Amino acid sequence: MGIRFDLFLLSIAVLCAPCLSDLVLSKVDRRIDLTSQIVRFTSTLKVENIGSDPVSEVLLPFPDHQAKNLAYLAATTNEGKGKTKGSTASLPVEVVHPKGMPPALTWYSVSLPKGLGQGESLTLDVLAVFMHALRPFPEKIPQDQPQRVTFQDSAHYLSPYVVKVQLLSVKLPPDTKLESHTKLEKTEVSGSEIKYGPYENLPSFSYSPIIVHFENNQPFAVAQELVREIEISHWGNVQVTEHYNLIHGGSQLMGEFSRLEYQARPQIRGASAFRHLVAKLPPRAHSVYYRDEIGNISTSHLWGDSRKTQLEIEPRYPMFGGWRTAFTIGYGLPLKDFLFQSEGKRFLNISFGSPIKDLAIDCLIVKVVLPEGSKDVSASVPFHVKQWHEIKFSHLDIIGRPVVVLEKMNVVQEHNQQFQVYYKFNNLSLLREPLMLISGFFFLFVAYIVYMHADLTISKSSASYMAKLQWDEIQTAIQQVLSIINRCLTIHDRLEATLRDLSRTGDVQACKAARKAADGLLKELSKELKPLLTFLHSCPQAAQILPKVEELVAKERELQEKLMAKHSTVVDSYEKKSGGREIENRIASIQQKLKALRQEVEDLIEVIDEI
Ligand SMILES: *[C@@H]1O[C@H](CO)[C@@H](O)[C@H](O)[C@H]1NC(C)=O
Ligand SMILES: *[C@@H]1O[C@H](CO)[C@@H](O)[C@H](O)[C@H]1NC(C)=O
Repeated sequence: MGIRFDLFLLSIAVLCAPCLSDLVLSKVDRRIDLTSQIVRFTSTLKVENIGSDPVSEVLLPFPDHQAKNLAYLAATTNEGKGKTKGSTASLPVEVVHPKGMPPALTWYSVSLPKGLGQGESLTLDVLAVFMHALRPFPEKIPQDQPQRVTFQDSAHYLSPYVVKVQLLSVKLPPDTKLESHTKLEKTEVSGSEIKYGPYENLPSFSYSPIIVHFENNQPFAVAQELVREIEISHWGNVQVTEHYNLIHGGSQLMGEFSRLEYQARPQIRGASAFRHLVAKLPPRAHSVYYRDEIGNISTSHLWGDSRKTQLEIEPRYPMFGGWRTAFTIGYGLPLKDFLFQSEGKRFLNISFGSPIKDLAIDCLIVKVVLPEGSKDVSASVPFHVKQWHEIKFSHLDIIGRPVVVLEKMNVVQEHNQQFQVYYKFNNLSLLREPLMLISGFFFLFVAYIVYMHADLTISKSSASYMAKLQWDEIQTAIQQVLSIINRCLTIHDRLEATLRDLSRTGDVQACKAARKAADGLLKELSKELKPLLTFLHSCPQAAQILPKVEELVAKERELQEKLMAKHSTVVDSYEKKSGGREIENRIASIQQKLKALRQEVEDLIEVIDEI
């Protein structure tokens, strides 16, 4: 089968260390939970001191290959004696390196609240949680096969102490298919549970390997990295943003994935895949979103009551073994539920781990971003984490926001404990950003008032305002003059055109009529010019430009006269049937003058228009 047996400990029973024999375990009851991808050992140990000296610590060894997957270890004791149940207290646990012990073991020491005297006993509850302790077997499966995994441990409780009575029960997922399991004496399968024992009077370091091979289609969702950013705003919000880098850590998919087959019968053709995960968010979470690199994913569902908010996360495709996905979830929380004050300090009190159920996290980074101006920052976490500080800049920041970064490897649901970040904050700092905004707006307002005020003083009364107003009128009058002159020039052009028509048609009468009409129009326009020129004369400010305007009007009048003269000369010559060359000679000098005048008029228009 290719499964490696860890037989290394069979030899060590003989190495028993005599120095530890003061304690015996009068009863050990172990339960191993294999219903999800996370393996949980719950052990109840009845510890008895049969020596004469008080004992203050109990040693818990784990084989190295198990210890490397150990994510969480906690020991509690029930302090109340007999029937009166007291409160459970968590006991300090630390890694130790006792001398003269068998190799390939990792040791933990539990410190007892008070020394255990001669003949005394106490009950210890130990919880050990392991990640990656279930090995997919086979490692690769086609789409239509369920996922099977193996689990190895010992039927005997591995302990440096003699164990008088012990029991082990292994709990499998409900409705699982048990492929095989190690059968020892006193082995019993009932439903989805395998029981080993009771075994009596086992010497220290007893070890009897067992392997269980069974079906487990629970989501093997592993976050290889999760970055949680928790940002505090004293304006009433705690913003949580979580970036997940997820992989299905179970049996890898072998061969092609057929979506068609999957959609037809997802339970069978995708038994090992998971479609969704559930995140349990705090109550009153708001503005919840779930997105990946493509954008928002709207297939997620959100529901909740007064105690919790649940978000169902559904990736864009079913997740098969070895497949990856990256996504972000974000939500806002009411500040007053998470930020408190004590002894002149503020503190955040919030859960450490991921809100997603049954998620194994290889590396979790929690960043707490405090408001700008926070001081004396410290974090208090109930288990060991790596810790450092950073600065984050957002818009309007000047010195940046202090960030506490907490990093922990191998994180499971048991780490969803409250942790605290303490800091000092001057209330005036709270007003810094609004003050910046307010003062910004204030200056804008003042500037506006000053501008308006200046403008108001100009208006109505002041001389400069009158001057400005008059200048506008002068400009308007000049533009009107230019427009009239331009209309005159258009009439000139049309009159010239009638002469060209005449050489083609010989219609002298039509040509005469056109001249009469043009003359009438030009007289009208000249009448329109009069009041404009009178106005400009009355304006001292127009004094500079007026000569040019008058020159323009005079030149146009001259041009008009010369054009009329040319027109009558040509028409008369036609009536007298003069030859073409004769007519040209007769108007030659006037023609030249016309051309020069036209140029002068156009130049003047340009000059005046630019003023
Ligand atoms: C995604 O959803 C969030 C929260 O509902 C919203 O603020 C954001 O604008 C959305 N983005 C897109 C691209 O729709
Ligand atoms: C943090 O919150 C938890 C649960 O809400 C509470 O039990 C605990 O006492 C709080 N810790 C502190 C230091 O206030």
